[in-house]
Amino acid sequence: MRPEVPDHLLDIESAPPGFLEHVLDLAARMRENPANWSRAQEGRLLVNLFYEPSTRTRVSFEIAALRLGMRVVNIAASDSSVKKGETLLDTFRTLAAMAPDVVVVRHPEDGALAPLAAAAAPGLHVVNAGDGSRSHPTQALLDALTLRTRCPGFPALKVLVAGDLRHSRVTRSGVALLKRLGVSEIRLCAPPGLEAGPRVSEGVRYFEDLDSALEGVDVVMMLRIQHERLAGMAIPDSETYHRRWGLTRERLGRAAPDCLVMHPGPMNRGVEIASDVADGPQSVILEQVANGVFTRMAVIQALLD
Ligand code: NCD
Repeated sequence: MRPEVPDHLLDIESAPPGFLEHVLDLAARMRENPANWSRAQEGRLLVNLFYEPSTRTRVSFEIAALRLGMRVVNIAASDSSVKKGETLLDTFRTLAAMAPDVVVVRHPEDGALAPLAAAAAPGLHVVNAGDGSRSHPTQALLDALTLRTRCPGFPALKVLVAGDLRHSRVTRSGVALLKRLGVSEIRLCAPPGLEAGPRVSEGVRYFEDLDSALEGVDVVMMLRIQHERLAGMAIPDSETYHRRWGLTRERLGRAAPDCLVMHPGPMNRGVEIASDVADGPQSVILEQVANGVFTRMAVIQALLD
């Protein structure tokens, strides 16, 4: 049975039952045979509207759209009328008047996309590419696709998410999706002051110390410190941080023998993760990137179909 399809993808929590599972299944099928989809959305138009820097997310939405036969327009806020004081909503309405089919938005404010979705005419789909510290649904989906592909026991897994959880939209969306997919044990570990909020922490195990948190886990996802969102908070220098909170080869030895190492990027090598771990045999960091394209193809296809 086909699940209910929403008009927009704003976050994990509001997606209708079955829709995210449908996207994951579709992404896996697309990965098996990408050529089958090369004209699936031919003639349709996607606009990437990014108010924050991005490498992976922006390019993978673009490549995903191109692989479905779409045309793509990229707008960076730094070279748009935003510089002249135009609001996000006015910019969105202006773009909408040119009749794209999908607008992908990244914005530094939590919840910035809700008014855009409310203003969108039928047939125009808004996709969240990250808003503030709140939500990053396609990152959560591509991480879940990576876990489903790599871990035969999925969802019977112990998954640890560690680093700056407080400012991370990846944590919020990722944990929400892991809970929804029934992952057996979710562990969180953050330096003091960088813990996740109460909603994320519900039903998960919290650890103050990374060594104990790593004990026996099947998957560890490391996150960078979000310097741009720290607003004056004092954090230790990189060397001290790495010593206490960094994933080193020695520390990884505490996890299950084939524990997967994940990171959404961008990485700060030698801070939250040692280079030999990031580039080591247990790392699936570039696989996450590759899955990002199929996941975004599936999201676009599912919304437009
Ligand atoms: C993340 C983001 O921008 O939310 N990166 C990504 O999309 N792959 C994480 C981050 O910025 O640390």
